[in-house]
Amino acid sequence: MQLEKYVRNITDFPKKGVSYKDITPLLLDPQAMNQAVELFLKNLPHRNLDKVVGIESRGFFFATLLADKLKAGFIPVRKPGKLPHRTHSENYDLEYGSDTLEIHEDAIKKGEKILLHDDVLATGGTAAATCKLIERCGGEIVQCNFLVELEFLNGRARLEKYNVSSLIQYS
Ligand code: PRP
Ligand code: MG
Repeated sequence: MQLEKYVRNITDFPKKGVSYKDITPLLLDPQAMNQAVELFLKNLPHRNLDKVVGIESRGFFFATLLADKLKAGFIPVRKPGKLPHRTHSENYDLEYGSDTLEIHEDAIKKGEKILLHDDVLATGGTAAATCKLIERCGGEIVQCNFLVELEFLNGRARLEKYNVSSLIQYS
C-alpha cells in the first residue's frame, strides 16, 4: 500500500501559492492508518519511550495512537491560551505566518525519553519550537517523526541535532 496515494494536494490553500497536503483521506482509511502507525513504530531507534508529544492540532491524530502502542504517556503541545496549568511557551515562524506553542511545565520529568510527532515537516519552525519546549522541561528527544516531509523547505536543517524520520517525502 502506497501511503502517498492517501494524501491529497490542495493548491492555493490556505493562501495563494501554498500547496496544502491534506491527510484526511488517509484518516478515512483504517488500513492506511494502521500501516502508517506500524511504519512509525518500525522506524524508531528503540521503543523505550516515556512520552509522545503531539503538536496541535494535526499532530494529535497519530500521536495518541503511537502513545497507546508504545505504552507511553501523551503530551499535547498547544496553541497559546489553551493549556490551563503553568506553561513554558516558545514563539516560532510558520510557512504562512507566526505563532506560539505551549507545554505544561510539569508534563515531563527530567531525563524522560520523548518522541515528538507532527503530521507535516515544512520549514521546521513548529517542530524546532516544540523541541525547545521539551528540552526546557528536561526531556530527551529520541526522535522527531512526521507523516509528510516537504523536503524542498529543508525543515530537517533546523532539526539537525535530532533523529528525524518521515513516511512520505515531497521533493
Ligand atoms: C501545520 C502542520 C505542522 C506545521 C508545519 O500546522 O500541521 O504542524 O504547519 O509547518 P512548519 O514546519 O513550517 O513549522 P498549522 O500551524 O497549520 O496548524 P494545524 O496543525 O492546527 O492545522
Ligand atoms: Mg500543525
